Amino acid sequence: MFSACSQAKCRGRVIIDIAASIASKTKTKKKHFVAQKVKLFRASDPLLSVLMWGVNHSINELSHVQIPIMLMPDDFKAYSKIKVDNHLFNKENMPSHFKFKEYCPLVFRNLRERFGIDDQDFQNSLTRAAPLNSDSQGRSGARFHTSYDKRYVIKTITSEDVAEMHNILKKYHQFIVECHGNTLLPQFLGMYRLTVDGDETYMIVTRNVFSHRLSVYKKYDLKGSTVAREASDKEKAKELPTYKDNDFINDGQKIYIDDDNKKMFLEKLRKDVEFLAQLKLMDYSLLVGIHDVERAEQEEVESEDNEGDDEGESDGGIGTPPDSPSNTLDSTKPLSPGEFDPTIDVYAIKSNDSAPRKEVYFMAVIDILQHYDAKKKAAHAAKTVKHGAGAEISTVNPEQYSKRFYDFITTILS
Ligand SMILES: *[C@@H]1O[C@H](CO)[C@@H](O)[C@H](O)[C@H]1NC(C)=O
Ligand SMILES: *[C@@H]1O[C@H](CO)[C@@H](O)[C@H](O)[C@H]1NC(C)=O
Repeated sequence: MFSACSQAKCRGRVIIDIAASIASKTKTKKKHFVAQKVKLFRASDPLLSVLMWGVNHSINELSHVQIPIMLMPDDFKAYSKIKVDNHLFNKENMPSHFKFKEYCPLVFRNLRERFGIDDQDFQNSLTRAAPLNSDSQGRSGARFHTSYDKRYVIKTITSEDVAEMHNILKKYHQFIVECHGNTLLPQFLGMYRLTVDGDETYMIVTRNVFSHRLSVYKKYDLKGSTVAREASDKEKAKELPTYKDNDFINDGQKIYIDDDNKKMFLEKLRKDVEFLAQLKLMDYSLLVGIHDVERAEQEEVESEDNEGDDEGESDGGIGTPPDSPSNTLDSTKPLSPGEFDPTIDVYAIKSNDSAPRKEVYFMAVIDILQHYDAKKKAAHAAKTVKHGAGAEISTVNPEQYSKRFYDFITTILS
């Protein structure tokens, strides 16, 4: 049996290291679970199976831990760890030996709460079906998944990213407290280390910038730089290419939002980038996704005509949207085209009345973990070689980066 992670234990640098014999566990499903017809999918990727198992375990454990009145300095260094041997449900790609480590469990629980995310819902989103492969939101090279219900993005990160998260976590948390969770920065919701066959993989979960149900037909990654900022031909051949600054300008792309929304958006953005500059973070992007209401309706009609019965293994990649109605958690009335629930699609902004098409925009800051001193040097050297010493990129520091970024974003909104 697991020992519950008591409040006292979670306060220090605790290690909960249990050789668990899962088989003996009793089935005490929570009401939340029982209410739905639950199908437990296992991921075809063993790592995802471990992630699902780990998140499930972690939230269950945390539900026994009293919510402290306030977080303590040690909470920002804490972690919980579990080692599982001889996993007796060793089928469907569950490795029989693995380790799962969660960083700063109480801090991330507090952040989830501040972002209005119920732990039970978070657990459901990440464990009721396998996460889906996702064509990256952000920096290339990193692996991305979304939760099956597309509410969360799971990104595979480096150990340097984990260290950087630890560096900024306290200030980030403070910032989230002060802005009441009202930010365009990534909503960091959980950070984990998974060990399978001696290989360590680090993952971080954030809220999806895009909608869990409104499709995005065009997306941009904007930095406010024009150096090497267009999508490659290879990128353009993708189903949903990530276009960049020069593409945005050359396309004559416009974001039609009304003045109130624009003001609120820019106010948030200004505070966010000031904060990032203070932390000496840079190279982040504004991720922009555009939903075209009519186009989406059209596509829905078309896909209804040739709708297959593709229930079952849902680790199928971006081609298989998992929004089968039976899976949705909320029993609220269906939304009409282009409508969204602002408590879930927190980044969504509707197009204004003078827009040529009815659209919904999703815009938020991504990839913030790049620290000036650490990785900048390498990137700097590479860019300088490629574009010459006078190239724009070689001259900026985090402060300048934030100004240039902010200025560029103000121009795209007008
Ligand atoms: C989550 O944990 C509960 C309790 O241990 C267990 O009954 C359930 O099967 C787990 N769910 C998943 C998806 O692993
Ligand atoms: C709509 O957005 C466009 C582009 O930003 C802007 O030029 C226009 O003034 C806006 N119209 C209204 C009614 O807010």
